[in-house]
Formats: sequence, C-alpha cells, structure tokens
Amino acid sequence: MTRPRFYLVAATLVFVMALGISTTTVQTQGGGGAAAPARTRQQAAAEAARQAKQLTATVVGRETCLGCHEELGAPLAGTMHGKAAHPRSPAAAQGCETCHGPGSAHVEDPSDPTTIKRFEEMPPRAANETCLSCHNKSTHALWEGSAHDARNLSCSTCHSVHAPVGPKAQLKASSELELCGNCHKAQVTKIKRVSHMPLAEGKMECTSCHNPHGSTNVKQLRVGNWINESCISCHTDKRGPFLFEHAAGRESCVTCHDPHGSNNHAMLVARPPMLCQRCHIGTRHPSTIYDNAAVQARSNRIVGRGCVNCHQNIHGSNHPSGQALVR
Ligand code: HEC
Ligand code: HEC
Ligand code: HEC
Ligand code: HEC
Ligand code: HEC
Ligand code: HEC
Ligand code: HEC
Ligand code: HEC
Ligand code: HEC
Ligand code: HEC
Repeated sequence: MTRPRFYLVAATLVFVMALGISTTTVQTQGGGGAAAPARTRQQAAAEAARQAKQLTATVVGRETCLGCHEELGAPLAGTMHGKAAHPRSPAAAQGCETCHGPGSAHVEDPSDPTTIKRFEEMPPRAANETCLSCHNKSTHALWEGSAHDARNLSCSTCHSVHAPVGPKAQLKASSELELCGNCHKAQVTKIKRVSHMPLAEGKMECTSCHNPHGSTNVKQLRVGNWINESCISCHTDKRGPFLFEHAAGRESCVTCHDPHGSNNHAMLVARPPMLCQRCHIGTRHPSTIYDNAAVQARSNRIVGRGCVNCHQNIHGSNHPSGQALVR
C-alpha cells in the first residue's frame, strides 16, 4: 500500500470510529441530544451501572438502613412519606428502598457509589421517574412535557424529601416567592410594584394561578384553556357574556393588565388614554388628547381615569343602552 493511501484509509477509520463512539454515547442517555454536557453522560453511565447492580440486590428493610443513617430516620417519619398508616406511602411499601431501590449490595459495600439511587447524582428525568411512580395523577398528571420538565427541572429542584424548609409541600425554600424567585426574578420583583394582587401580603401565591407541575392552559396556568378562564375563575363579574362586549376584553385580559403587577392604576400595562390609544386612533369623538383648543383647559380624556371617566364599563355592559360602554 502506498503511503498517501495508507493515511487516507487510517483517517477514514478514525473518523468512522469517532462517529460510532459519539452515537453510542448519545443513545445511552435516551435521545438527549448530541450537545449533552459530559456530566450528563457520566450520570447516565453511572445510572446504567446502578440499575445493573440493583437488579440482583434484595430489600434489607428500613431498620438496617437506619443502622448507619440514623439521623435520617426522625425527619422522614415526620413527613407524609414516613406515615406507614397511609396505604400509598413509601413507609407502607418498602420504606427507604421504595425510593432508593433494594439495598443489599449497598450494605455490603457502601463505598461503591453505583449500588444505590443517589438522586442528586442522577439525570433529572431518571430521578423524577421514582416520584412519578406515585405522583402522576390529578395536579401532577401533566408534568411530562411541561415547561419545567422540558427544561430539565427535577422534583428535587423544588422539593426535598429529607430536609424540607418550607411550611408546606416539603419545599426547599421558606416561601414560594423565594422558591420561584430563584429563577423568575422579573415576575417576583413585579409584585412589589404599586399595583399588584395580594401576593406580597401573603393572601395569594404564584401557585394561585400557576401549576408548576404542568397544565392544559398556556404558561402553566392552573385552570382553563386560555388566559381569561384563569382570571375569571376569581373575577367572576368579568366573565360575561355581556350585552355589549369589549372585543379587547373578550380576547385577553393581559392585553391591558399585567398579572404580576405594574406601576399604573389597576395593574394596567399603560395609563389611559395611552392604553386605549394603542388600538383606538380614530373614534367618532376625537380620541386624541390634543383636541382641546384652549391650552390651559385640560382635556377630559387625560384627567382622572382618562377614557374610563366616561367608558366606565370597560369590561362590558349589560345596560340596555350600554353601547360605547358608558353605562
Ligand atoms: C453499613 C452501613 C450502611 C448501611 C446499612 C446503609 N448505608 Fe447508605 N451509606 C453508607 C455510607 C458509609 C455511605 C457513604 C458512602 C460514600 O458516599 O462514599 C452511604 C451512602 C448512602 C447514600 C448516598 C449518599 C450521598 O451522599 O449521595 C444513600 C442514598 C444511602 N446510603 C442510602 C441507604 C439506604 C436506603 C440504606 C438501606 C437500604 C442504606 N443506605 C444502608 C453506609 C450504609
Ligand atoms: C420518597 C422517596 C425517598 C424515601 C422514602 C427515602 N429517600 Fe433518601 N433521598 C431521596 C431523595 C429525593 C434524596 C435527594 C435529597 C433530598 O431530596 O432531600 C435522598 C437523599 C438521601 C441521602 C443522601 C443525602 C442526605 O440527605 O444525606 C441518603 C443517605 C438517603 N436519602 C437515605 C435514605 C434513608 C436511610 C431512607 C429511609 C429512612 C430514605 N433515604 C428514604 C428520596 C427518598
Ligand atoms: C410509594 C409512593 C410514593 C413515592 C415513590 C413518592 N411519594 Fe411523595 N407522597 C406519597 C404519598 C402517599 C403522599 C401523601 C399525600 C398524598 O396522599 O398524595 C406524598 C406526599 C408528597 C408531598 C406533599 C407533602 C406534604 O406535606 O404536602 C410531596 C412534596 C412529595 N410527596 C414529593 C415526592 C417526591 C419529590 C418524590 C420522589 C423523590 C416522592 N414524593 C415519591 C407517596 C409517594
Ligand atoms: C418549580 C418547582 C416545582 C417542581 C419542579 C415540582 N414541584 Fe411539586 N410543588 C411545588 C409547589 C410550589 C407546591 C405547592 C403548591 C401546589 O400545591 O401546587 C408543590 C406541591 C406538590 C405536592 C403536594 C400538593 C399536591 O398537588 O398533591 C406534591 C405531591 C408534589 N408537589 C410533587 C412533585 C413531584 C412528584 C414533582 C416532580 C415530578 C414536583 N412536585 C416538581 C413546586 C414544584
Ligand atoms: C393572578 C394570576 C397570576 C399570578 C398570581 C402569577 N402569575 Fe405568572 N402569569 C400569569 C399569566 C396570566 C401569565 C401569562 C402572561 C402573558 O402571556 O402575557 C403569566 C406568565 C408567567 C410567566 C411566563 C412569562 C412569559 O412572559 O412567558 C412566568 C415565568 C410566571 N408567570 C411566573 C410567576 C411567578 C414566579 C409568580 C409568583 C411571584 C406568578 N407568576 C404569579 C398569571 C399569574
Ligand atoms: C430552577 C429554576 C426554576 C424554578 C425554581 C422555577 N422555574 Fe418556572 N421555569 C423555569 C424554566 C427554565 C422555564 C422555561 C422558560 C422558557 O422556556 O422560556 C420556566 C417556565 C415557567 C413558566 C412559563 C411556562 C410557559 O409555558 O412558558 C411559568 C409560568 C413558571 N415557570 C412558573 C414557575 C413557578 C410558579 C415557580 C415556583 C413554584 C417556578 N416556575 C420555579 C425554571 C424555574
Ligand atoms: C386566585 C384568585 C385570582 C385570580 C386567578 C386572579 N385574580 Fe386578580 N385579584 C385577586 C384578588 C384577591 C385581588 C385583590 C382584590 C382586592 O384587593 O379587593 C385581585 C385584584 C385584581 C385587580 C385590581 C388590582 C388593583 O390594584 O386594584 C386586577 C386588575 C386583577 N386582579 C386582574 C386579574 C387578571 C388580569 C387576572 C388573570 C391573569 C387575575 N386578576 C386573576 C384574585 C385573583
Ligand atoms: C381594554 C383594556 C382592558 C381589558 C382587556 C381588561 N381590562 Fe380590566 N380594567 C381595565 C381598566 C382601564 C381598568 C380600570 C377601571 C377603572 O379605573 O375604574 C380595569 C380594572 C380591572 C379590575 C379592578 C376594578 C374592577 O372593576 O374590579 C379588575 C379586577 C379587572 N380589570 C379584571 C379584568 C379581567 C379579569 C379581564 C379579562 C376578562 C380584564 N380586566 C380585561 C381595562 C381592561
Ligand atoms: C387591544 C386593542 C384595544 C384596546 C387596548 C382597547 N380597545 Fe376598545 N375596542 C377594541 C376593539 C377591537 C373594539 C371593537 C370595535 C368594533 O366593534 O368596531 C373596541 C370597542 C370599543 C368601544 C366601542 C364599543 C361599542 O359598543 O361600540 C369603546 C367605547 C372602547 N372600545 C373603549 C376603549 C377604551 C376606553 C379603552 C382603554 C381603556 C380601550 N377601548 C382599549 C380594541 C381595543
Ligand atoms: C367625556 C366622556 C368621554 C370621554 C372622556 C371619552 N369618550 Fe369615547 N365616547 C363617549 C360617548 C358618550 C360615546 C358614544 C358616542 C355615540 O354613540 O355617538 C363614545 C364613543 C366612543 C367609541 C365608539 C364610537 C366609535 O367611534 O365607534 C369609542 C371607540 C370611544 N368612545 C373611545 C374613546 C377613547 C379611546 C377615549 C379616550 C382617549 C374616549 N373614548 C374618551 C364619551 C367619552
């Protein structure tokens, strides 16, 4: 074989091998994508090794686990997962091993990191599988494919089984504002604006409107199939149908309101008349604020509540002569 040809063949072989290696690593993480970080690949490999070892392991029981992990016993017993009287709780099944998997191999050699489920070392989807084996109904039914699942959050991002901090739902933070605020700063800071729903006051929470576990609505809204259904689940007076509808309100409440808070009256995204002028540029009466010839006199569209001074029933009117939403 001539030298150039040898190099060509060698180079082709190396290329084919590299291709083979990269596709096998992609396959082991269940189609996670070629750009998956090295850490995820290692996690997936460790996870495969663990599954193999735990196949032959047997259940040793909670008391054996507590022999070495004594400090974890009491905190767990205080949570719903530790209540053996609850027929669906892990305590009523195989205790610690309901979640961590059969432990005999781990008890024989605790130093081997691949003999027991270590949730914090697992890829999020694999870790969630354990939790979803019980929590896959009602409010949790739509977790898979939700925005949080799609962005690789795990149950343990927000919840802790062993060391919860929050007063409810074993949350990892002392309040939802703190928890959600770790990632959604913009929304959490908006509730401090002058006009807001009572979240800062503790009468509502992010989850009054959102279900962080997924939903049928847009933006993980808890109820309904479109934004208005979420709003009118509390603001029933805005539900309609009205004799005279305001098309803008029928379409979406958030066209005019910022649900998280704003510095305008009634959480409006802009002040009337500018809010109204976003859509109404030519009406039967002048819709601009510049129609008043006497500069000293202020236009009645700019004082007080602007256009809403007259168009009071801005969300819709049931008055027999409520056209133009003035009564
Ligand atoms: C003989 C003592 C012993 C027993 C019994 C035992 N463990 Fe462990 N376990 C250890 C030690 C030691 C470690 C730390 C190993 C390491 O991280 O190098 C450990 C680590 C762990 C970890 C990983 C901790 C981490 O930081 O990621 C989990 C999970 C765990 N054990 C669960 C269990 C469960 C569940 C049982 C019962 C089936 C159990 N252990 C029984 C000694 C024991
Ligand atoms: C409901 C599922 C579940 C049950 C039941 C459970 N664990 Fe865990 N365990 C987890 C998860 C999830 C983590 C990751 C950290 C967290 O969420 O607090 C973890 C973490 C651990 C750790 C390592 C981190 C730490 O806090 O030191 C050990 C050790 C451990 N568990 C042992 C046990 C033992 C022993 C029991 C039984 C007394 C038990 N687990 C019962 C889910 C469970
Ligand atoms: C063997 C079934 C089982 C598994 C596995 C399980 N849970 Fe639970 N969990 C329960 C039961 C039962 C309750 C009690 C509430 C209920 O009936 O739904 C509960 C309650 C909870 C609560 C609410 C606690 C409260 O005080 O309101 C949270 C949060 C929770 N689980 C998270 C998790 C997470 C995270 C995992 C995975 C690490 C997990 N669970 C795994 C059965 C399970
Ligand atoms: C983005 C944060 C977040 C993630 C991720 C998350 N949760 Fe929750 N979870 C919450 C909050 C906040 C609550 C309390 C408000 C509520 O009930 O919706 C809660 C409540 C719960 C409850 C008790 C109330 C109920 O609906 O039964 C359970 C059980 C629960 N979560 C399980 C899970 C499981 C299982 C996963 C993973 C599949 C998970 N959570 C992922 C934030 C989260
Ligand atoms: C009164 C109901 C309500 C409350 C309370 C609420 N939200 Fe929202 N949130 C909405 C609505 C409605 C939307 C959709 C807005 C839109 O499409 O313009 C939304 C959108 C979002 C979005 C997506 C942003 C985007 O532009 O895509 C995030 C993130 C969010 N909210 C987080 C939070 C957090 C964090 C809290 C708690 C501080 C919270 N929300 C409280 C109703 C609410
Ligand atoms: C660890 C970070 C993290 C935490 C904590 C977290 N989220 Fe998210 N959330 C995300 C990411 C990432 C997205 C996806 C954003 C995107 O795709 O633009 C998201 C998306 C959302 C959306 C928009 C959904 C959509 O369809 O566009 C809402 C609403 C939301 N989160 C609410 C919450 C609430 C409520 C909490 C607290 C209970 C919370 N999140 C906690 C990371 C987080
Ligand atoms: C879980 C119930 C609930 C949901 C859902 C809800 N709200 Fe509210 N809203 C309230 C409460 C409570 C107040 C405060 C009422 C008060 O102070 O009298 C309020 C107040 C308001 C105000 C008046 C604020 C002010 O400064 O006067 C507006 C505007 C508003 N909500 C719009 C919306 C919109 C738009 C949606 C849908 C994105 C929505 N709300 C969804 C409960 C809710
Ligand atoms: C065309 C813009 C617009 C749309 C769309 C809109 N609103 Fe309003 N909303 C306003 C204005 C302007 C005010 C202030 C009224 C005032 O100053 O008296 C207001 C005030 C409110 C208030 C507080 C005062 C009151 O009447 O209770 C609530 C609650 C409210 N809107 C809820 C909603 C809901 C729910 C929707 C969706 C069904 C919605 N709004 C759609 C413009 C709008
Ligand atoms: C997102 C665009 C939009 C915004 C913002 C908006 N409107 Fe409208 N409005 C409409 C549409 C569309 C119609 C229906 C026009 C039609 O039927 O010809 C309408 C109709 C009206 C009508 C006529 C109703 C009737 O019975 O003829 C009045 C009055 C009105 N709007 C006032 C306002 C006021 C006041 C504001 C500001 C608080 C406002 N609008 C904000 C889109 C908007
Ligand atoms: C002084 C009271 C008053 C103010 C302020 C006012 N309007 Fe009107 N508007 C009316 C009355 C009354 C009608 C009904 C006229 C008719 O039916 O002939 C009307 C009719 C309308 C109509 C429906 C007529 C058409 O063109 O089809 C729209 C849209 C409208 N106004 C928008 C606005 C906007 C936008 C503002 C703020 C820039 C505003 N109005 C300020 C009193 C007012």
